[in-house]
Amino acid sequence: MLLVLNGPNLNRLGLREPGVYGSQTLEDLERQCEAWGAELGESVTCRQSNYEGQLLEWVHEAQEHGFTGIVINPGALTHYSYALRDAIASQQVPVVEVHISNVDAREAFRHTSVTAAVCKGKISGLGFFGYRLAMEYLIESA
Ligand code: DQA
Repeated sequence: MLLVLNGPNLNRLGLREPGVYGSQTLEDLERQCEAWGAELGESVTCRQSNYEGQLLEWVHEAQEHGFTGIVINPGALTHYSYALRDAIASQQVPVVEVHISNVDAREAFRHTSVTAAVCKGKISGLGFFGYRLAMEYLIESA
């Protein structure tokens, strides 16, 4: 059972910088993740919040709610949220960090991830497909 978390501004997909993030919406992404889950034989729950504390609580509660893996796109929190980093590090469920855009090809502040080091790994620049790869990894390695 996988948890797919999207952080700040990802509810703006489709509207926000389409040249960077594409024209598909968060709903398209979430339906796609559910369809991939069905194909891979895994149930998927998708959640998005613009609030750091909400994301922290979803991470904290993942294990007690029965999730076996978390795919997270922390949005800009990636680059500065020690609180999210500590939340990921505080628990046992494996986490994979995903970015739709290639953060290493963008502004210098996006080259730093304070969260990736406490994740199993990081996928960046492969669009929505990165979420699928993260899901496959979490299923295969469970
Ligand atoms: C992002 C990259 C971040 O730098 C940015 O702040 C986002 C989206 C991505 O998916 O490419 O909100 O995480």
